[in-house]
Amino acid sequence: MERMERLTLGLGVAVMAIFFLAVLVLATGFGVDVPGCVTDVKPFERDTFFQRADGRYELHVIARMWSYQMPSVVLPAGAEVDVYLTAGDVLHGFHIDGTNLNLMAVPGTVTYGRVRFPKAGEYLIVCHEYCGIGHQQMMGVIRVVQQ
Ligand code: CUA
Repeated sequence: MERMERLTLGLGVAVMAIFFLAVLVLATGFGVDVPGCVTDVKPFERDTFFQRADGRYELHVIARMWSYQMPSVVLPAGAEVDVYLTAGDVLHGFHIDGTNLNLMAVPGTVTYGRVRFPKAGEYLIVCHEYCGIGHQQMMGVIRVVQQ
């Protein structure tokens, strides 16, 4: 082997060793890690649905293969809901049929939308982002009743 070949090979191995050690030191010594799936932002400490004020509600939803983790939601007609959404695994969609709410559920990120339900009825929630073999079964419902 030529002298320059040996030198180049040695340099390559040395650089790889330095990078490997850097990753090892960062992962063990400094707690650097890949981001988790579910955010620890306040709304997602637990799944919740509650009334904020008269006619105003807040809903926290975690989308997972292949359902929405959310409590049973029954609202009076005319209610306005702040929806906070995230995903526990992969990208999902969150569209409430008959409304203008259409959000993406992104792992590690919170998306937000406000929606009003002027009329009583059952509002279907559908996932509009292909998320795996059970995608077409991923749905939920919000019930709105006349006061
Ligand atoms: Cu979740 Cu498609």
